[in-house]
Amino acid sequence: MKYIDEVDISSKKVILRCDFNVPIENGKIVDDTRIEKSLKTINYLLDKNCSVILLSHLGRVKTRDDKLKNTLKPVGDRLSKLLNKEVKFIPEAVGMNVLKTCKDLKPGEVVLLENTRYCDLPEKLESKNDLNLAKYWSCLGDVFVVDAFGSLHRAHASVAGISKYLPTYFGFLVKEEMENLDPVVNNIKRPFTVFMGGAKVDDKLQYIEGLLPKCDYLLLGGGIANSFLFALGYDIKNSLCTSDEITLEELRNLYKKYKEKIILPIDFVFDNDMILDLNVKTINKYIKYFELSNTIFVNGTVGKFEESKFAKGTRSLFTFINRSNAIKIAGGGDTLNAINEFKLADNFNFLSSGGGASLEYISSGKLEAVEFIESNQK
Ligand code: 3PG
Ligand code: MG
Repeated sequence: MKYIDEVDISSKKVILRCDFNVPIENGKIVDDTRIEKSLKTINYLLDKNCSVILLSHLGRVKTRDDKLKNTLKPVGDRLSKLLNKEVKFIPEAVGMNVLKTCKDLKPGEVVLLENTRYCDLPEKLESKNDLNLAKYWSCLGDVFVVDAFGSLHRAHASVAGISKYLPTYFGFLVKEEMENLDPVVNNIKRPFTVFMGGAKVDDKLQYIEGLLPKCDYLLLGGGIANSFLFALGYDIKNSLCTSDEITLEELRNLYKKYKEKIILPIDFVFDNDMILDLNVKTINKYIKYFELSNTIFVNGTVGKFEESKFAKGTRSLFTFINRSNAIKIAGGGDTLNAINEFKLADNFNFLSSGGGASLEYISSGKLEAVEFIESNQK
């Protein structure tokens, strides 16, 4: 992997892929950690007299309504404040406006294109790494810089595809993430406990198989725990879980094989027939594992913590992890949002900006986009 400080990048027109996928409610950014974490690379490029064309996705775009909900406009405004300079926002991800603005861009100027996933409607061109789309974006600049650590588990057109057509380097956020996660991948202090929750169920279940041989305990919450419980025949009513038969069969097999390691919740807070939080007995059960661990990796939350009546599980568990003497690493947009909201950030050894990405890296030692980029940069 080659980083931007290993090459001469001065005065280049740089296409910079960031992960600005931040939580937004009613048009307002709830947690801007990911934006702040990209400032170092942007400022470095500006100091080097580059012009910067920013690309990012936001949320998932499957319908026209999703487009309205997932505009990057608020990100452009926040970024402009943080950089203390104008960030031109183009309300399209492709088109004449994009071509013209990027062509006229001067050294020291910054432009942000609209959500790259607007190109997922109707044909998923961004997400299926359509190379014509990647080639189109590659024509906007001279070099491609990837600093979107949180997206590196996705070989999408704007994350990976562009590297087929331009010299490609990684930014300082990716560097920081790799340096901090490498010890967990290569030299783990055991017992190693992984605490996993969250809502992106089908995404995360695919990493469990790789994770189980590496960890000593896998404590589950959220939709991942529900999926195991459902697979094992428990009645979880209308709670979030996978409905994929093959996955459920795999979960049963994994549970048989790793019964000692897979730790499941035993009591819950229900609302409208849905599990929305874990309850006291589970919290006490999980705390015992945190006490005996030397490394803890946290990925995901266990309930609808944004509503205070369902925040107890996430808050108590995160508080106990925070107090433990283990090496503590947490990853993911929502996880960081919860940690920041509960004011628990100080005690963690590292907070990764990537949820799926840190999980893929820790479970397999690889990142899909990095593999794609490296194979195109030989
Ligand atoms: C994340 O929030 O994990 C990353 O930004 C990736 O988002 P995605 O799961 O929608 O691809
Ligand atoms: Mg996220």
